[in-house]
Amino acid sequence: METKVITITDKLDALALLPAAEVLQKGGLVAFPTETVYGLGANGLDTEAVKAIYAAKGRPSDNPLILHVADFAEIDKLAHDISDTARKIIAAFCPGPITIILNRNRIVPDAVTGGLNTVGIRMPNHEIARELIRLAGVPLAAPSANTSGRPSPTTAQAVLADLQGKIGAVVDNGSCKFGLESTIVDCTSAVPTVLRPGAITLEMLAAVVGEVKLDPALVGENSIPKAPGMKYTHYAPKAPMIMLEGAKGKMVAGLLTQIAKAKAEGKKIGAVVSSETAKELPADVAIAVYGSREKMSEIATNLYEALRKFDQTEVDVIFAEGTAEVGLGLAIMNRMHKASGYRIINL
Ligand code: TXA
Ligand code: MG
Repeated sequence: METKVITITDKLDALALLPAAEVLQKGGLVAFPTETVYGLGANGLDTEAVKAIYAAKGRPSDNPLILHVADFAEIDKLAHDISDTARKIIAAFCPGPITIILNRNRIVPDAVTGGLNTVGIRMPNHEIARELIRLAGVPLAAPSANTSGRPSPTTAQAVLADLQGKIGAVVDNGSCKFGLESTIVDCTSAVPTVLRPGAITLEMLAAVVGEVKLDPALVGENSIPKAPGMKYTHYAPKAPMIMLEGAKGKMVAGLLTQIAKAKAEGKKIGAVVSSETAKELPADVAIAVYGSREKMSEIATNLYEALRKFDQTEVDVIFAEGTAEVGLGLAIMNRMHKASGYRIINL
């Protein structure tokens, strides 16, 4: 299959999107930009189209997809018994980088929810994404547009690196603003529970609804995560990655020690670090800079591209600099921990 690349540089060009909408209406797959990461869309009400997503990504079938909508009225068609708390969250943060788990209506196919009686719904804050959904005329089931287990794509080039030839089209609108997948919040329980941290932080949710819980599986407690996808090793670069965590003052010395050890073993070394730390590392280390350690939003935006840099650079091991786990740092560290397969050195 030839993957058509539709480039849109202006904010919105509905005419240019028509071929992509046509692919979707025929049951095909289209990757499209959102404010978080690129999504791999299909008609979310068509079981066969949804199954094609799993095949293209190599995704386990027990990992449910989220449905993307363009308008508030769509939410009530897909879900029922939406609580007041859920309505408050929707009013405050949609459209935006958040996915709300609600009680599913029968029109949502089992192929989307993996048989669960809940469904994840997201309204992206991205004009092109919402226009594509409107033109397709149906909610779009869309996971991140990567091969299962790989870092999510934040550019059309990253989508093509994984899925060229396997999907009908990709809409290229440059880099994604946030760079990390949406916050997932389960609103089917009395107290909303964050299942995946993202750009809508716990603090922001608490400011709107008061009490918010964090899925115990996210804070290292030995329970099964409620978002099935969170149990898989994920976002991983091709070489093994080891995290270094601890006080900022210990980071450079800690990295230099690990680098010296790995060099003594004859290994080629990569590092995913802040711009501040990068300046202190030896010249023969392949470095991917994720931004300034003082700017969490910059780290979030650049993290996956930094991890993907090692697809082109042959290294035997990657050392990664951790950051504080508060605010957006919770989402950043959640993804880095998974990318490292929880190989962590505490400094
Ligand atoms: O930012 C995003 O959310 C991106 C863009 C494309 O919108 N999408 C995305 O989809 O990250 P995906 O499939 O890569 O991640 C969705 C996560 C998975 O971990 C899945 O297990 C969880 O959402 N999920 C989906 N439906 C669920 C449900 N009913 N209950 C609990 N978790 C659910
Ligand atoms: Mg994903």
